[in-house]
Amino acid sequence: MNRRDFNRRVIAAMAVMATPRAVPASQPLRVNGQRVNGWLDTLSTFGRNSLGGVSRPAYGDADLEARDFVLRLLRDAGMETSIDAAGNLVGRMPGSEAGLLPIGTGSHIDSVPEGGRYDGTVGTMGAIEVAMTLRDAGRTLRHPLELIVFQNEENGKVGSKALRGEDPASYMDFVTNSGLTVRDGITRIGGDPARIEEVVRAEASMAAFVELHIEQGAVLESAGIDVGVVEGIVGIRRWNVEVQGFANHAGTTPMDRRQDALLAAARLVDAVNRTVRERPGRHVGTVGSLRAEPGVANVIAGRAQLTIELRDLAMGVIQPLIEEIEEQARNIALETGTSFEFRPVYRTEPATCSEMIRGLIDAQAKELGFTTLSLPSGAGHDAQEMALLGPIGMIFVPSRGGISHSADEYTEPAHIEAGANVLLHTLLALDARLDA
Ligand code: GLV
Ligand code: MN
Ligand code: MN
Repeated sequence: MNRRDFNRRVIAAMAVMATPRAVPASQPLRVNGQRVNGWLDTLSTFGRNSLGGVSRPAYGDADLEARDFVLRLLRDAGMETSIDAAGNLVGRMPGSEAGLLPIGTGSHIDSVPEGGRYDGTVGTMGAIEVAMTLRDAGRTLRHPLELIVFQNEENGKVGSKALRGEDPASYMDFVTNSGLTVRDGITRIGGDPARIEEVVRAEASMAAFVELHIEQGAVLESAGIDVGVVEGIVGIRRWNVEVQGFANHAGTTPMDRRQDALLAAARLVDAVNRTVRERPGRHVGTVGSLRAEPGVANVIAGRAQLTIELRDLAMGVIQPLIEEIEEQARNIALETGTSFEFRPVYRTEPATCSEMIRGLIDAQAKELGFTTLSLPSGAGHDAQEMALLGPIGMIFVPSRGGISHSADEYTEPAHIEAGANVLLHTLLALDARLDA
């Protein structure tokens, strides 16, 4: 997009922003639903794809444009802004009482390739709307308010893991969906990989962290519920699996003399699905990527690579599953004359949401006239990395048809407004209750 187009879109978005409602002190505080939904529309133009969704992987051109837009909004909300060494965008609003830890909120604006318009962006725009509403109403919290736009949630939760103190060696050289390594990506978005350890936050350094997000599942919609109160967020483990066979002529090699890496990989794909389904529980398992080499019609594949991802609310459930899958891989290797190598590449711990924050979300949502339901999150979120820094909570709003990571992702504007209002009042309630 050229600079003129960019400025036109930003000015159009700002026009909605320039008409805040004056809120008399006697009136209950409410977000401006039209404004927050307008920002979401503008944000969806950065990286819009032909499917009607967005392709905005972290560190790509569209991510950079979207970050520029968000940085301007943070400034317009009256926040002091910075880009930390990990590349997270941070907005701060000082509190009125000295010595209190910050209350945090925020989410992400990067997307998976061919993703949707609402994943991460609802929580980011919702949080900025909350800050803008407070500013418009002349309200200052007792605690500092910290709004974090985490960089690269979709491809490793890099920004939030950096804050939580993950060893940078475990992710710096990872090649991301943009084609750049995390290291080069951080430099591109204005961070400094050499100073990344400076962003690490101490345990218990935040008074609380609350993230608003779309549900990405169909529980709320099916039950006709407005607001989800998240109980906890799943742990995730991922492996890259390398299958070694023998590349040979597809016309002259008899069927009983093949060492077909792709066939072995295909059997493993099925074995992952069967193993996960056979054990009772809420765990899920996915092979989301499979590649064969050399990958042409007239050569038996000599090598194949696939990914395995397993998720559950309890990490203890995942270990026996992967052991069973590895056992099956050994059998497949024997049958097909191939070998398998499993390399763990990603791990994120599950997190439990604070009882106290769950209670506040539920009470505030009901006070605002919304119906609520407690539910777990099967998707990973930056909030789970924040769990070490303080108590966390998450607010879900319904996703149409339970569809996410897709161009068909959709959440009603009224639900987005509702979620932002619940976020606003949860933060106000936390501000009043904590350290009181
Ligand atoms: C994040 O979107 C995830 O993979 O759960
Ligand atoms: Mn997300
Ligand atoms: Mn996502």
